[in-house]
Amino acid sequence: MVALMFYQLGLTQRNVALRVIYLDAILYFAGGVIGTGHHWYFTGQSSVNMALSAMVSVLEVVPLTLLTLDAWDFVRTTRADCDVCGKSVAIPHKWTFYFLMAVGFWNFVGAGIFGFLINLPIVSYYEAGTQLTPNHGHAAMMGVFGMLALALMVFVLRQTSTDTRWVDIEKYVKVGFWGINVGLALMLMMSLFPSGVLQVWDVVQHGY
Ligand code: HEM
Repeated sequence: MVALMFYQLGLTQRNVALRVIYLDAILYFAGGVIGTGHHWYFTGQSSVNMALSAMVSVLEVVPLTLLTLDAWDFVRTTRADCDVCGKSVAIPHKWTFYFLMAVGFWNFVGAGIFGFLINLPIVSYYEAGTQLTPNHGHAAMMGVFGMLALALMVFVLRQTSTDTRWVDIEKYVKVGFWGINVGLALMLMMSLFPSGVLQVWDVVQHGY
């Protein structure tokens, strides 16, 4: 979806979008079922499956991260070009673009960093049921799929509004964008500090 949107907005080339979609599809078909094994620490799966699932699931974040970097590069380059001519280029559908960049950001932080943090089987043993799980779950779920839903909503809103109407609407979208992103970041920080850290300490000291 993100590849399609970036392409529609003219922020990425057709080939790049297609490559990412194929890479994603290959990863899902080849490793999707194995990758979900990281949810099954206590179901008696074999060590081989646990190791494989930990390895395959980390790859999940790669395609979207590459795509986001590509779109970011594109915007930076076109902006730089225009600095030379003294005018800044208006990004079409600016707030849709911002929400899509938020998808990429939370994909990297929420799914990538916080997912990876709890992904090794030995970490899973201590982590299941602690604050680390909802910390990653919220960052990844709201951050990636929530922001994507909002990006699509804002896109439709912009397409169906006249330019004059949009001037009124845009300020609410702006508050919404920053509110929801800063809010999510605060939610994660406050679930980790101090209770999350104390909980991990307790689990490591006394066992699961
Ligand atoms: C956008 C992608 C992702 C979403 C929406 C997502 C969402 C979630 C959610 C909601 C949970 C909590 C499940 C539960 O409580 O039973 C969870 C757990 C977990 N996720 Fe993710 N996740 C994503 C990507 C990843 C990635 C890329 C990794 C690995 C690097 C990962 C590793 C884990 C692990 C190890 C758990 C803990 C499993 C457990 O304790 O049962 N996730 N994830």
